Amino acid sequence: ITDHLVLFMPSGKRGRFPKGTTVLDAARQLGVYVESVCGGRATCGRCQIEVQEGHFAKHKISSRADHISPVGAKEARYAEKRSLPAGRRLSCSATIQGDLVIDVPQDAVVNAQVVRKDAGERLIERYPAVQLCYVEVDEPDMHKPLGDLDRLKAALSREWGFAHLEVDTHLLALVQPILREGRWAVTAAIHHDDDAGDAARIIALWPGLKNEAYGIACDIGSTTIAMHLVSLLSGRVVASAGASNPQIRFGEDLMSRVSYVMMNPDGRQAMTRAVRQEVTRLIDKVAAEGGIDRADILDSVFVGNPIMHHLFLGIDPTELGGAPFALAVSGAVKARASDMRLNLNPGARLYMLPCIAGHVGADAAAVTLSEGPHRQDEMMLIVDVGTNAEIVLGNRSRLVAASSPTGPAFEGAEISCGQRAAPGAIERVRIDRETLEPRFRVIGSTLWSDEPGFAEAVGTTGVTGICGSGIIEVIAEMYLSGIISEDGVIDGTLAQKSPRILAEGRTYSYLLRDGEPRITITQNDVRAIQLAKAALYAGIRLLMEKQGVETVDAIRFAGAFGSFIDPTYAMVLGLIPDCELEKVSAVGNAAGTGARMALLNRNHRREIEETVRRIEKVETALEPRFQEHFVHAMALPNKLDPFPRLAR
Ligand code: FES
Repeated sequence: ITDHLVLFMPSGKRGRFPKGTTVLDAARQLGVYVESVCGGRATCGRCQIEVQEGHFAKHKISSRADHISPVGAKEARYAEKRSLPAGRRLSCSATIQGDLVIDVPQDAVVNAQVVRKDAGERLIERYPAVQLCYVEVDEPDMHKPLGDLDRLKAALSREWGFAHLEVDTHLLALVQPILREGRWAVTAAIHHDDDAGDAARIIALWPGLKNEAYGIACDIGSTTIAMHLVSLLSGRVVASAGASNPQIRFGEDLMSRVSYVMMNPDGRQAMTRAVRQEVTRLIDKVAAEGGIDRADILDSVFVGNPIMHHLFLGIDPTELGGAPFALAVSGAVKARASDMRLNLNPGARLYMLPCIAGHVGADAAAVTLSEGPHRQDEMMLIVDVGTNAEIVLGNRSRLVAASSPTGPAFEGAEISCGQRAAPGAIERVRIDRETLEPRFRVIGSTLWSDEPGFAEAVGTTGVTGICGSGIIEVIAEMYLSGIISEDGVIDGTLAQKSPRILAEGRTYSYLLRDGEPRITITQNDVRAIQLAKAALYAGIRLLMEKQGVETVDAIRFAGAFGSFIDPTYAMVLGLIPDCELEKVSAVGNAAGTGARMALLNRNHRREIEETVRRIEKVETALEPRFQEHFVHAMALPNKLDPFPRLAR
């Protein structure tokens, strides 16, 4: 028998196979993940592939339509009953008849959501931890007194090649009725825990063919919780929802929530209950929106900063409130979703990404997984700005991480007219270099304040305050127009030139908006931003020193703050080091993307666990150089470090 060359795309895996091998078998042998629920019976339709025709010089292969077997009876029956899109074949039925280039289609919707200009197209290749396996089980036989469960296991091993199968105890009472209801044909959900070696576990069971299973990917932020419902069989995002984190009523920022736990005997329990209830509500919401039953959700992945991580798991976060910031658990957490009282399938699993350090959580690990500094050579800086900035810097050969105590100024707190990013908040500011007159834009409107129709555009909300990105811009613009010096001092002599400069005791303020409410930028506001940005930059600089680099190749801003901030202004103030502006990008939902990657591909779980293990953690509080960098970073943009790209 002649062997034929088969190349699978997009993975690029290739191998030689005897004529007549099914394409599904070839994929299996090469470790290319092609879904299959029915075990090759041509009934589930999950194993679809496409033949790419033509000569592929780069791969030295010519692929033709007649190099795959013609549609057989079983496949024709499926196509007639359920319809197959043009060009699609069932890989369990189609056999190899010549050299082939096979495309394993990835769901277009998944891809559309992760396509970004800078990063190019990125696919989440699927290899989920939960797999559906349909089997036909031998009927009971008095001569072979083997239990129903044991015959089910034997059938699964025979047809699906499982070496060792465990079973969840809650299924013991269900095996007999389900086998009978399905007339000895059932679908088992199998969970693979890579730490358990070859062992796989039956976690759910349905009579007959079950052809859909879902998972949720959830990012628990201190302010908002975001959830995606994803089909484990196609990778498609079926529904998404978000909500405020109800723990806000116990404390706005992370440290006040830790204090709440310390001061109140039931504080931890109350906060754990609150977050789990909200997660449960979101599960109901995405399930309703996706038109699915909660019991069809079999896997879940959660990410969050260390304090959110601990509170969700029911762990007291007090140790994270002070040095040495000890995590109760830093590695990935694997549990049953019911352990966290989540209302999914009773056998559903839960996976939480590892935490990097006491202040750098599973959310930062998820952003790292999504942006992949460890998969490339560029020196990439990842910054997630919150009350604590989480910073990761590195590339394929080495990664370092730290957190910087930026405080809440970037979120609009501690600023006299500051507020959270919400409709009515000033987010963009320009100051005329000559007259020092400002114009601004608020969230919820596309008009500038000096454009006709602005008042109608902001409507009844009006102008309410200034948010984090607005503060960055106004202070950068004040610096660029000479209102503040390099040291951040508002120049009082300008009061003669402009009515916008107001004397306030011994210092001066800048009047951004006269009217109700009156919005001024005070000397204290400038100081608060200087302190926050100096802390952020000092942390980054410390990591650059550890890496022995003077510049970075790319910067990724994660989190909500990052998606609104204009990188030019961030650089004008020296929040971030000098970098090509087109290499600075906001990746607002990167933590969610990382969670989805871990949900859809168990190799990504291993990848991030290994990566986190080798990230070197730098504790800024223990580094004497941090203080030095901090002092230099108080200046705008910096006392010592040059920003050559800004000059251009
Ligand atoms: Fe089910 Fe091919 S594996 S149709």
